Amino acid sequence: MEKTEDRKTILSGIQPTGGLHLGHLTGALLNWVKFQDEFEAFYTVVDLHAITVRQNPEELRTWTLDLVATLIAVGIDPEKSNIFIQSHIPEHTQLAWILNCFTSMGECSRMTQFKDKSKKYPDNVNVGLFAYPVLMAADILLYQADLVPVGADQKQHIELTRDLAIRFNNIYGETFKVPEPYIPKVGAKIMNLQEPTKKMSKSDQNSLGVLFLADDENLISNKIKRSVTDSGKEIKFSEEKPGISNLMTIYHISTGESIESIENMFAGKGYGEFKQKVADALVEYLKPFKAKYNEIRNNQEFLFEVICKGAQKAKEIAKSTLQNVYSKIGFLLPK
Ligand code: TYM
Repeated sequence: MEKTEDRKTILSGIQPTGGLHLGHLTGALLNWVKFQDEFEAFYTVVDLHAITVRQNPEELRTWTLDLVATLIAVGIDPEKSNIFIQSHIPEHTQLAWILNCFTSMGECSRMTQFKDKSKKYPDNVNVGLFAYPVLMAADILLYQADLVPVGADQKQHIELTRDLAIRFNNIYGETFKVPEPYIPKVGAKIMNLQEPTKKMSKSDQNSLGVLFLADDENLISNKIKRSVTDSGKEIKFSEEKPGISNLMTIYHISTGESIESIENMFAGKGYGEFKQKVADALVEYLKPFKAKYNEIRNNQEFLFEVICKGAQKAKEIAKSTLQNVYSKIGFLLPK
């Protein structure tokens, strides 16, 4: 492995707002795992982002630890990657404030996620929800990240992050690395099984459309068998067949078979048979994850060790970036 100083940095985040679904795994976490050997990796559980929607305090605490255990269970190795909790590093909110002062109202108003969430929670369209992408920019820029692996829905936020980095650098001189998004070719947008033109989202009303990683075997099979498919009979990957294409993506992720070979394997076979095979493959694929999760979730001491160690490393870098920003802005630094 290269020396730490020579390695590029990768950073990503995920909200502790309940069980993860398959989209989180394919859009983000599998790439977090993939890149942890090559990069200096920072993976953060973004509890500050989570409270832009009202949360129950006890649930939020439990979900935060659930998520740390999940990250390890899917293959993020705390010996290689820094896993930490966003609120443990106050520099995130400090930098977010500064970046707020460089972000226009228009930029935040244009964010699709803001528009969607404002519609979903009309009684709680708060300032935090509006400024959410600026906090996300702070998460990324604090660590001078080169690469940010995310699903397709986060692309617009990374574009804003890049714009803010460039804007700040233009005014104050080279301060932030301008990060690149990494959006996977397959699995960047797993669709809801009941409405395959809509992305799978944990807050979807009808849980039949969402494959949670914690679902048991029967539930996974049931959800896949009852998934909405398209008219016609062919197992073919195409925009006109969002339901079947989504299932093909799930089969590809679960087995490693290419989309082309899946089309060949199932040529002339019916949807029923295909769904059964997708369900079996996914159940098998998720088995090791479930076993590992059950093994570590109750070991709170270990989970706390992981996040303390992660926070220590994160703090060093966050502190140094923020000091630099403070000094460039013209804040009087304490003696
Ligand atoms: P969050 O918690 O909603 O989702 C975590 C990651 O999962 C991806 N994802 C999906 N990918 C494919 N198909 C889906 N149906 C699907 N649903 C979710 C998301 O794209 C994301 O990569 N704002 C972020 C969290 C965040 C962050 C950051 C990310 C905060 N700070 C800094 C990167 C860098 C969010 O709410 O993700």
